[in-house]
Amino acid sequence: GIEPLADRFGRIHTDLRVSLTDRCNLRCTYCMPAEGLDWLPRAEVLTDDEIVRLITVAVRRLGIRTVRLTGGEPLLRRGLPGLVARIAELGPELSLTTNGIGLARTAGELKAAGLRRVNVSLDTLRPERYAGITRRDRIADVLAGLAAARDAGLDPVKINAVPVRGVNDDELLDLVEFAGAHGYRMRFIESMPLDAQGAWDRQRMVTADEMLEVLGARWELVPVGRHGNAPAEEWRLAGTDTVVGVIASVTRPFCGGCDRVRLTADGQLRNCLFATEESDLRALLRGGADDARLEAAWRNTIARKGPGHDISSADFVQPARPMSAIGG
Ligand code: GTP
Ligand code: 5AD
Ligand code: SF4
Repeated sequence: GIEPLADRFGRIHTDLRVSLTDRCNLRCTYCMPAEGLDWLPRAEVLTDDEIVRLITVAVRRLGIRTVRLTGGEPLLRRGLPGLVARIAELGPELSLTTNGIGLARTAGELKAAGLRRVNVSLDTLRPERYAGITRRDRIADVLAGLAAARDAGLDPVKINAVPVRGVNDDELLDLVEFAGAHGYRMRFIESMPLDAQGAWDRQRMVTADEMLEVLGARWELVPVGRHGNAPAEEWRLAGTDTVVGVIASVTRPFCGGCDRVRLTADGQLRNCLFATEESDLRALLRGGADDARLEAAWRNTIARKGPGHDISSADFVQPARPMSAIGG
């Protein structure tokens, strides 16, 4: 048997999020500045072989059962279907979070390679507003990508939206109806202080209570609960099959049940989205460490994990890395 990857609070870690690149082809205003960021030099980014090696250790020696590929934008990674196939072969349930651009072209190939599910970011249905939020006029690619993912059998296809006050907070009902009509599952996310600009403003964040008030005024909401330790809490619209999720990281933190560990594109292991320290697995890998050494580093990182974030406290400090370089 595998010794569980437990922390000092008894939380068992079975979910790994792997960032494949810090680059992105959008410039969402709540994420990064118009000019982009100082991207990681290629030599610092893990190779496919290095990623596969680390995931092999994670699955065989640490009990990781689910893997999510993230970015930046993971579809920008060259040779992605080949990497997906190699990871899927190791056995974890494999999913991907993407902005959807390029998905129309690759969904079938990714599904065939062993990808199980995709979550696609879409904050608005209005083309001009989309271009305003993401600074790129690409909504048609995203809509095509969603349909292609659904048609390829990547099921369920989930849509992530971050409502921002005064920007897209008038579209919650439209997004739910759109998702319901097309067979996607809608989720709304409270915005977190993880932007590169450090401009997060609590007053512009739409809270879970506010989201539920808007949805509840239109539909009777039947609580479905949470899948295991997943961040999303779900509700079904009474009398329909439509399920809506809310990810309330700020106002209803779910750190107590956290089962996640994160690997950045440059091979740093993080025990929390909000961690202030990282463990340099890339240095170990490139220094010739054996599997036992990698396993020990991994366990040590989890042993140091704190109870959770304290976004709501006065002395909260945003981590040095923005969300796009952590992998969300
Ligand atoms: P599934 O439940 O498997 O569909 O995926 P997910 O919702 O965990 O992943 P996704 O990449 O779609 O993330 C949705 C939102 O949840 C993003 O804003 C993430 O940053 C956020 N999120 C994911 N994991 C965590 C976490 O451990 N803590 C916090 N606070 N937020 C998280
Ligand atoms: N807070 C919450 N969610 C965010 N996302 C990007 N930046 C933030 C933030 N600061 C969302 C994206 C994507 C998901 C992975 O995270 O919209 O859907
Ligand atoms: Fe790219 Fe995601 Fe950041 Fe938007 S939120 S700029 S899609 S990494």
